Amino acid sequence: MPNYKPKFPKIIEIEGVDPSPFPREMPISTDESRYNTSKNTSGNPLTDYKGKSNPYIDYQSIDLLLSLQHPRSKGYDEMCFFVMGQVKEILFKGLHFELFNAREQIKEGELNNSIEILSRATNFVKYLSDSWSILSTIKAEGFSEFRDHLGTASGQLSFMYRHVEFILGNKSVKMASAHKNVPHVWPEIENSLNTPSLYDEIIFYLSREGYKITEDALNRDWSKTYKANTSVKNAWLSIYKKPTNENRLFQLAECLITFEEYFSIYRWRHFVLVKKMIGYKSGTGGSSGVEWLEKVTKHHFFPELWDIRNEL
Ligand code: HEM
Repeated sequence: MPNYKPKFPKIIEIEGVDPSPFPREMPISTDESRYNTSKNTSGNPLTDYKGKSNPYIDYQSIDLLLSLQHPRSKGYDEMCFFVMGQVKEILFKGLHFELFNAREQIKEGELNNSIEILSRATNFVKYLSDSWSILSTIKAEGFSEFRDHLGTASGQLSFMYRHVEFILGNKSVKMASAHKNVPHVWPEIENSLNTPSLYDEIIFYLSREGYKITEDALNRDWSKTYKANTSVKNAWLSIYKKPTNENRLFQLAECLITFEEYFSIYRWRHFVLVKKMIGYKSGTGGSSGVEWLEKVTKHHFFPELWDIRNEL
C-alpha cells in the first residue's frame, strides 16, 4: 500500500505514562477475595477503579508497552514492521527462558522436566515462524518506503536473538562483539558466549550416564561453535537402538531434532522473505544480505542428530 499515507489512531497520552521498567506494586487476590468481589458486583465485571491506573495496566505495565511504537517514516507498512519486530523480541525472550530452564533441568538430571520444557520451546519457534506471514504481506515497494530510516539497524544486532543462538551452541565472538559497547547488555552476552550451551550440558549428561564421550567434547573453548563429534554420534546411535517411550534419552533426542526442524523453518522463512523484499541488495547491517543469510540458514545446532539419520 505504498501510495496511502497512514493515519495513526491516538491510543494514549504518553506524557502520563510511568516510564519505569521496574514492576509496579499490586495487591494480590485469593479465591475468597474473588468470590466476595463477585458477590458484591452481582457477578458483573469491576469497572470502578480509584487512582490513575488499574490492575490490568499495572500487572504488565501495558501503558508503557503500548507507548513504544514510533514508526519513523510516512510509509504505510512501517507500523506493521515495527510492531512485529517488538513482538518477535518478546517471543525470543520467552523462548530463551524455556531453553535456559531446560538446560538447568538437564544439569540436575531431570530429563522429564527438560523434555516438557523443550516441547514448549518448540511451540515458541513454530509461533515465531508463523509470524513471518504477517511481515510477508509487506511488498518490496512498501519496505523501501521506510528502509532508509533503519540506518544501519539490523536484526543481526538483536541481543535477545544472540542469547537464543548462544544457548543453543551457535557461538560467535564476532557477533557477540557487536554488543561490547553497550554496558547494560554486554556482561550477559559475554557470559552466555563463555558458558556451555544446552547441548553441551546434554553431552555432559551422556558422559555422566556412562556413554564414552571424548575429552574434546567435555572440555573445550565454550566461545566456539559446537562441531560434530564422533563419540557423541556413537552415543546417540546406541540410544537410538531402543526407540521406545520409556527410553527418555531417545525422547529427548527426538525433542531436540523436532525443535531444530522448526528453527530451520524459522530461518528459512526469514531468508525467503528477505529475498522477496530486497532481492540481492546489501543488508542494513553491513552484510551482503541474502547471500550471508543463506550461509547462516544452513547451521545445525545438534549435528550428530542429523548425521545419524544416514544410519538409522
Ligand atoms: C521484514 C523485513 C526484513 C528484512 C528485509 C530483513 C533483512 C535482513 C538481512 C538482509 C539480514 C542480514 C544482516 C544485515 O542486515 O546485513 C538480516 C538479519 C537478521 N534479521 Fe532480518 N529482516 C527483516 C525482518 C526481520 C525481523 C522483523 C526480525 C526480528 C526481530 C529480523 C531478525 C533478524 C536477525 C535475528 C538477523 C540475524 C540472523 C543471524 O544472525 O543468523 N529480521 N535481516
